[in-house]
Amino acid sequence: MNRLWIWGWLGAMLLAQPALADRDPEALARQWCANCHGADGNSVSPLFPRIAGQQAGYLRQQLTMFRDQTRSDAAAHDYMWGVAGGLSDAEIAGVAAFFAGQAPMPNPAMSDPARIAAGQAIYQNGKGDAVPACQACHGLKAEGTEQAPRLAGQHAAYLLKQLHVFNTSQRPSAVAMQAIIKSLDEEELRALAAYLQSR
Ligand code: HEC
Ligand code: HEC
Repeated sequence: MNRLWIWGWLGAMLLAQPALADRDPEALARQWCANCHGADGNSVSPLFPRIAGQQAGYLRQQLTMFRDQTRSDAAAHDYMWGVAGGLSDAEIAGVAAFFAGQAPMPNPAMSDPARIAAGQAIYQNGKGDAVPACQACHGLKAEGTEQAPRLAGQHAAYLLKQLHVFNTSQRPSAVAMQAIIKSLDEEELRALAAYLQSR
């Protein structure tokens, strides 16, 4: 009887152990994320989006969607599913706060002024009835809002790639963007990406 009680008690104690302790977010960011996204989130290669100064809510949301495997284009699958799959909720909140707090650095301006001006016009005014002004959601300086991510200083090649992804079902949460890009042609998408990298 006594022995059974002891085993039961031991078992209960083991079950009560917390899961592995959450890791320090700054150490995770600097030792892991930094390899691809840059030490402070200002990545150099356009394969890796810049995440310095990105909205914390957006970072948390996207990391959760990589973990759930709902954001599913090839680069998300190949790089971020493995990364986010190993993060707890607390670690996601911690690394999101870390990168949101880093200063975003300007990206080199693109060299085509006419294209940049065309992108700026759509960003600020939209296009006809079909395309609302991007700044209504992404902010006057493309710094992002609680509703939508920062776009200023992001790599043009990454932005253009995501605008194409919105034409697929690989970012299912991006309902607003899926509707908006239907009315923009390839040159307009390139112009928007060039303008935003140059901001
Ligand atoms: C091995 C390289 C690699 C590592 C390590 C890595 N990432 Fe990524 N990350 C990527 C790539 C590639 C993408 C772009 C995915 C796409 O195109 O959809 C990405 C995308 C993201 C995005 C989406 C950004 C946006 O603008 O939508 C966030 C947020 C992110 N990573 C955060 C992190 C965090 C936080 C860590 C560390 C815990 C991390 N990443 C580690 C390669 C990496
Ligand atoms: C109604 C609000 C709204 C408007 C207007 C809007 N966006 Fe967005 N945009 C969003 C939201 C929300 C997201 C995040 C989607 C998600 O959940 O993945 C987003 C995401 C994006 C992304 C992906 C960024 C990244 O880091 O992966 C790009 C690029 C983008 N928008 C460009 C634009 C452009 C260009 C315009 C104008 C033509 C525009 N948006 C207008 C709400 C909006």
